[in-house]
Amino acid sequence: MIVHFKNSLPEGTTIHWHGLRVPAAMDGALTHDQSPIAPGAAFEYDFILPDAGTFWYHPHFDSAAQLGNGLDGPLIVDDPTEPAALGDEVVMVLSDASVDAGGRLEPADSGGDFGTLFGREGNTLAEGLTLRWLPYDRGFGTAYNRPEEDVLRIRFNDEAPAQSPELSGLGRKIPAMDVATAIPVDLSLTLTIADDGALAMGINGIPFSEAGHISARVGERQVWTVRNTFERDHPFQLHGFFFQVLDVNGIAPASREWKNTANVPVDGQMRFVVDFDDRPGMRMFHCHILDHAEAGMMGMILLQ
Ligand code: C2O
Repeated sequence: MIVHFKNSLPEGTTIHWHGLRVPAAMDGALTHDQSPIAPGAAFEYDFILPDAGTFWYHPHFDSAAQLGNGLDGPLIVDDPTEPAALGDEVVMVLSDASVDAGGRLEPADSGGDFGTLFGREGNTLAEGLTLRWLPYDRGFGTAYNRPEEDVLRIRFNDEAPAQSPELSGLGRKIPAMDVATAIPVDLSLTLTIADDGALAMGINGIPFSEAGHISARVGERQVWTVRNTFERDHPFQLHGFFFQVLDVNGIAPASREWKNTANVPVDGQMRFVVDFDDRPGMRMFHCHILDHAEAGMMGMILLQ
């Protein structure tokens, strides 16, 4: 995939290909040695798509604000061998955006410290938000006298979700990973309150702005234990590599999955195992409540 990207924002930005196993230089993350793409500047993202799947992309600079203002989108990588029987896919991107009474986006910092602590949530549920079909003129009168039509109406209720149908035979084989000789890495997700009352989130008590990096060797297998010392959940993301969750609060997940983000529950811990393949460089990990990430709950790992 080659993306000719031009930054037309009045501020710096990047595109992070969330969940894609791309080389570090294409990851669009802001490590201490990578700077944002300046206003007016351009960058060419160029990488091989190694995995089929449903991914997304978004800026990784001032990300709580830039995503909050709508800069994100889906990236579907099709598997050429996928059975056609699956039929058409409908991709929906649901976003928590805060809007004022006039429907304009609220500024990213409108929630203050409290908003940062909770992480931004949308403040308006668009009851009867309807997906509409709009006439598109393909020539020869194809749009003539054709009204717009409602295609899909979304209604929210309190019922439990229906069981999804069994997709037999579609599951990839995901081998268990032996962790006997894996290198352990222990992290805590922390909140510290300075003498002046300022909140700083961090990893092991250190906010991102002051953090060094942890290290890994190409070919190494590591087991990370991520402890949550907060009374709020934190979805934890490791950039660039898939991992397998071993257990959450000591309980193994019902099925084995490749993940790039997994939740660490309130006052709990999540353990995962990851193999670092031959894509060296600096990578980020962080809480994916982006207000928390921006408040310092991010770190880096240098793979050499
Ligand atoms: Cu989806 Cu590091 O971000």
